[in-house]
Amino acid sequence: MQNKFLSGKFAVVTGGTRGIGRAIVERLLQEGAAVALCGRNPENVARAARELKGQAQGEVLAETADVSRLEEVERLFRVVESRFGALDILVNNAGLGVFRGIGEMTPDEWHAMIDLNLNGVFYCSRAAIPLMKRRGAGYVINISSLAGKNPFSGGAGYNASKFGLNGFSEAMMMDLRYQNIRVSYIMPGSVDTEFGGRGARTDWKIAPEDIAEIAVALLRMPARTLVSRVEVRPSQPKK
Ligand SMILES: NC(=O)c1ccc[n+]([C@@H]2O[C@H](COP(=O)([O-])OP(=O)(O)OC[C@H]3O[C@@H](n4cnc5c(N)ncnc54)[C@H](OP(=O)(O)O)[C@@H]3O)[C@@H](O)[C@H]2O)c1
Repeated sequence: MQNKFLSGKFAVVTGGTRGIGRAIVERLLQEGAAVALCGRNPENVARAARELKGQAQGEVLAETADVSRLEEVERLFRVVESRFGALDILVNNAGLGVFRGIGEMTPDEWHAMIDLNLNGVFYCSRAAIPLMKRRGAGYVINISSLAGKNPFSGGAGYNASKFGLNGFSEAMMMDLRYQNIRVSYIMPGSVDTEFGGRGARTDWKIAPEDIAEIAVALLRMPARTLVSRVEVRPSQPKK
């Protein structure tokens, strides 16, 4: 088999059954990595596993896990450790957006966003870092949003979670850089996925594959160089 730039590398992508996560899984597999993905819906996880195993050369591990739940994250990483034996790349992608004015947002909706977009990233990173340290190197990519720097009406919970994720990512980068673990975060504008219950797909938005291409470009940077934050937006957003 042809040697690719991620051959022999092991990755976890949270929320890899559709959208941006799925595109990143496919791209990492194309580059030769073995990839574990997760999602909450078992049927979607099983379908993604079937589809990916049909097209990919690399190993695919698909697990049902809700990354906003600590015990499910710990189980996921136990499975990854026993199947892969190592971990080089973590993509914290799974995220949720509930867009409602602060007066209308329920505490459950607030908690769901913070629990996934912020706590889930902490749980996964905490589980992944020891495996990377054992490897002597690693790379964590957090999928944030331009909503992590641009507040908007109806975005309070989502804004709070993504502003928080940006700060978390930068502090984590400083915690880990001298241990050869790089941390980057990508802040996309509108991406053409089903995120937030969106309907018809549109071609003015960023394609999920373009975010996957950015993730691969980050991973390709020489170890001496770290692109820590990427902002990316549609070239010509709808007016
Ligand atoms: N689309 C955009 O315009 C846009 C823009 C900027 C940033 N982002 C960010 O990009 C990331 C991915 O968004 P997307 O547009 O690809 O979303 P998406 O199409 O809704 O896909 C979300 C993925 O995450 C999984 N997921 C959701 N909740 C989960 C949980 N609690 N535990 C594990 N997996 C979970 C979903 O599967 P299940 O439902 O089966 O769990 C699915 O695989 C998010 O962090 C989002 O904030 C998106």
